[in-house]
Amino acid sequence: MRTLFFLCLGRRRLRALLIDIGGIVSIWGILLASVTGIGMTAQGNPEAARMTNPVAPSPESIAAGKQIYQRYCASCHGINAEGGSGSDISPPAPDLSDSEWKRGSTDGEIFFVIKNGVPPELNMEPWGDRIKDPDIWNVVNYVRSLAKKSRG
Ligand code: HEC
Repeated sequence: MRTLFFLCLGRRRLRALLIDIGGIVSIWGILLASVTGIGMTAQGNPEAARMTNPVAPSPESIAAGKQIYQRYCASCHGINAEGGSGSDISPPAPDLSDSEWKRGSTDGEIFFVIKNGVPPELNMEPWGDRIKDPDIWNVVNYVRSLAKKSRG
């Protein structure tokens, strides 16, 4: 009788322990998911990511984008968009020709960054008041064409 009692207790403890472990694992899962979730909203822009690029990346679009890039962007991001050391902005303007996008990697997110800048410092200025939307898409197509090249 007694042994049976202890056996039951043992099982119950074991089960409680298993539930505990399960709980801890799922709590970590939730924590991890929310941390990465927060990380993603801070860096990317889910709403802008849903925007589709209305301008096909034709040679004409890329050439037009390159012209605008050289006029407005090269001073900070470098003549080949490989990142700026020419300006005194710290940290310097990032490489736009690699495949790393701190502020989101979709066409829509890149468009959004160019149009609205990166707050709060706005070292990356908003260009929406100076460059028309179709031309911003041309610039998106231009920097994308560089990324494709460097990836081989
Ligand atoms: C005055 C300097 C300056 C000029 C001019 C400038 N940028 Fe930027 N840009 C920055 C800086 C600094 C950042 C980094 C901002 C950040 O992420 O905090 C940035 C970030 C970006 C990003 C995000 C990169 C990433 O990794 O997600 C894009 C895209 C971009 N710029 C495109 C452009 C384009 C296109 C133009 C021209 C229309 C332009 N920039 C003009 C300074 C500049």
